[in-house]
Amino acid sequence: EMGTESRTSSSSSATTKLLLYGALLSFSSIFQMGYSNAYPNTSIETFKVYLNDSFDGQLDPPSFSWIWSAVLNIWFIGFAVGSLLSVPIADRIGRKSCLMIGNAGNVISATLSCLAIPLNLWWLYMASRLLFAVSAAISMNSLILLLQESSPSSLRGTMSFYAEMAFVVTNAVGVVCGMRIVLGENLLLLTGLAIIPAVFSLLIVWPFHESPKFLLLKRKDAEAAKKSLRFYQNADAEECDRFLSEAEEETSKDGKMDNEAPASVFDFLRVPHLKKGLLLGILSLQLTTSIWPIIYFSTEFLVRANIDAMTAEGVSTLMLLFSTLSTVIGMVVVERFSRRKIFLSFATINVSALILFVVSASLQHWCDSCKYGCIAAICLHGISYSLAVGPIAWFITAELVPLSHRATAQSVALCINQSLGLVFSFITLPLYDLIESFGLSGSLIFIPLFIIPGVICIVILAWQLPETRGVKIGDIVKALQEGPSHRVKPRRAVGRNDFELDAI
Ligand SMILES: *[C@@H]1O[C@H](CO)[C@@H](O)[C@H](O)[C@H]1NC(C)=O
Repeated sequence: EMGTESRTSSSSSATTKLLLYGALLSFSSIFQMGYSNAYPNTSIETFKVYLNDSFDGQLDPPSFSWIWSAVLNIWFIGFAVGSLLSVPIADRIGRKSCLMIGNAGNVISATLSCLAIPLNLWWLYMASRLLFAVSAAISMNSLILLLQESSPSSLRGTMSFYAEMAFVVTNAVGVVCGMRIVLGENLLLLTGLAIIPAVFSLLIVWPFHESPKFLLLKRKDAEAAKKSLRFYQNADAEECDRFLSEAEEETSKDGKMDNEAPASVFDFLRVPHLKKGLLLGILSLQLTTSIWPIIYFSTEFLVRANIDAMTAEGVSTLMLLFSTLSTVIGMVVVERFSRRKIFLSFATINVSALILFVVSASLQHWCDSCKYGCIAAICLHGISYSLAVGPIAWFITAELVPLSHRATAQSVALCINQSLGLVFSFITLPLYDLIESFGLSGSLIFIPLFIIPGVICIVILAWQLPETRGVKIGDIVKALQEGPSHRVKPRRAVGRNDFELDAI
């Protein structure tokens, strides 16, 4: 409400400019993160040969699974480290400079991974992925800060969706390039391609201004902040002054809050409703862990279900294209329906898709056409994830916890989620092999790793998760304290930005 009224028609060109800047920064800075996580999926056969060569042809299939799993999943460790580093760096040197450091890291890591191919050094490729994950996290976190702090409140929601959007789109690019009929046969080109957008992302950030909030609040430089506001929002003198006074008010409020009750991790152990909010957030995020093995290995899973390699690559690609489309639809749809209902129903579809995969893969020994159930399952899984499960899980923790503890809750929940993701995703492929060595379908491993935990999460969430869409944080806390008998009626017709204001 606040944002729309202050934007006049003359500022519509400013809005267009800001949306364009946001898209330019997001797609170039996030490119490698999406691309390099997705191409190993479809190009797995070529990487098998590469890895075998770098072990002088001594690699047996089970060792391949362990090593390839380690190479891919080192991502989680790097991303966690990068996330921890990014906050102090961005606070000290600024959001834009932090983004440049992340993007420079992207250039170096893309170059290293490209070098690792002709040098035939598998550990160099693994090291490049570690560096890539650290810099991806730094880029991602500083990008979100920069975009959010430079936009008027009416555009803040859209801006934070850009990062996720860029991730899904570049994921699709990666999976297409990884197909053997595209670049999948040529690892040098496939890995080297990431260098171009990385260099571009480094150059493009250069002329951008530092975030106005950072300049004002951390640097205490009101002149530079005004210049930056003019750059991002075409703000006139009056708008600049309003922005400055609002921002200063915000800090004085924050400052007071910090003095009175500093947010501590231990509050989550002491205060029941904080503990419950955090736990429900972690359970919601747990439902997203099965996407990682699918992003990394869907082609391999399909091949092992006896689907020919070409079709398998095609299905993995199609699944990611569907996912991209679903994310766009999800952005529009998510704010229109009950958060609780939409999350729980799509999570149920998501887990059912895994069950369908296991059943189809197990039955294909007896009925050959059952293997096509696997294709349907992979697509259903991708779509239900991108449409609702993924996006909602990413922000539900923030909605369940009051502002004073929101940032801490979010980072604790993500940290726990990434650690669990690492473990689950790392052991999936090797255990797949192990089960297959007993003559069973390897997909049975989904049952203990993803299906049973998924069902447990859904049951607990169905019982305890309060509705959060358009509900004030005070009422959410009340719902968490009083348990499932207390149901809050959501108010009607609220947009994302109204919600942000209400939630505070
Ligand atoms: C690696 O190459 C050797 C010899 O060509 C072969 O026996 C082995 O199966 C290969 N390993 C993998 C994982 O493909």
